[in-house]
Amino acid sequence: MSAAISCQQVTKVFGDARNRVTALENVTLEVAQGEFVTLVGASGCGKSTLLRSIAGLDAHTQGGIQAGGRPVRGPGADRAMVFQSYSLYPWLSVMGNIKFPRQLAVHTRDCTTADVEVASGRADALLQLMGLESVAEAYPAQLSGGMQQRVAIARALMTRPGILLMDEPFGALDAQTREVMHDLILHVCALEGCTVLFVTHDVEEAIYLGRRVVLMAPRPGRIDSVYEVPLPGQRSQEMKHSAEFLRLKSRIIERIRSTSGMRTDLELLQKLSRRAAGSEVQPSA
Ligand SMILES: Nc1ncnc2c1ncn2[C@@H]1O[C@H](COP(=O)(O)OP(=O)(O)O)[C@@H](O)[C@H]1O
Ligand SMILES: [Mg+2]
Repeated sequence: MSAAISCQQVTKVFGDARNRVTALENVTLEVAQGEFVTLVGASGCGKSTLLRSIAGLDAHTQGGIQAGGRPVRGPGADRAMVFQSYSLYPWLSVMGNIKFPRQLAVHTRDCTTADVEVASGRADALLQLMGLESVAEAYPAQLSGGMQQRVAIARALMTRPGILLMDEPFGALDAQTREVMHDLILHVCALEGCTVLFVTHDVEEAIYLGRRVVLMAPRPGRIDSVYEVPLPGQRSQEMKHSAEFLRLKSRIIERIRSTSGMRTDLELLQKLSRRAAGSEVQPSA
């Protein structure tokens, strides 16, 4: 069976000859059907660009991207994206937001009463799955960040996308809410059978959620290394304290530091401050 997501030698260049940025260079990555893969790396290493290219929001410059065995030439209902900013429609209730993708479809195609009923049933099921029944009639501004992100995920799942692309979706949430969201998203994606590519800057989050962690490096944006996560499929919070979890966490953090140039920046800073301190004690001529 072909991979759910397949990127072959994908290159993406922004700008012109004078201001050229190679956001992605020869990125090759396959994500199996139903797999949960996390993507980490220093800021600017092309994580969002890769996700947007797979979503069909950005056109790649070279190489091939396939989703469900078909070449990606633009956005499609088979792929849904969830961003850090909740991007809900503030004038629609929670239920209105969740049903929105289906309502768009209802207005653009021939649609029967049965289709509308199916969509309503799906919206109710998602409302329940995401623990949102009690706020169905509330508006986004009345909800906490965690609740708003649950609505955004429910809305993304409304059209049953096989592929869920998530770009730092929990980045703005507090630590406790994030933990709850981790277990929720693992449960929901397993239940829905989604293939997930999930970007985060939090290495602990990447290990807890991912079967594999893909580490990208900047200038040019590329895949540096891939780590299999040595934990049982069914995750539980206490695994975060296990020796293998902590070992992998420090390995990945160390690698991000060295690929991002942070270490060389620090060494340079130390050298400069030593030199400055040295010049202070030297007698003036
Ligand atoms: N629309 C754009 N125009 C020009 N350069 C861009 C654009 N989007 C991203 N870039 C550049 O591409 C590189 C990768 O960006 P991005 O994918 O956002 O990185 P990440 O998500 O890993 O922080 C960065 O150098 C960024 O400045
Ligand atoms: Mg980004």
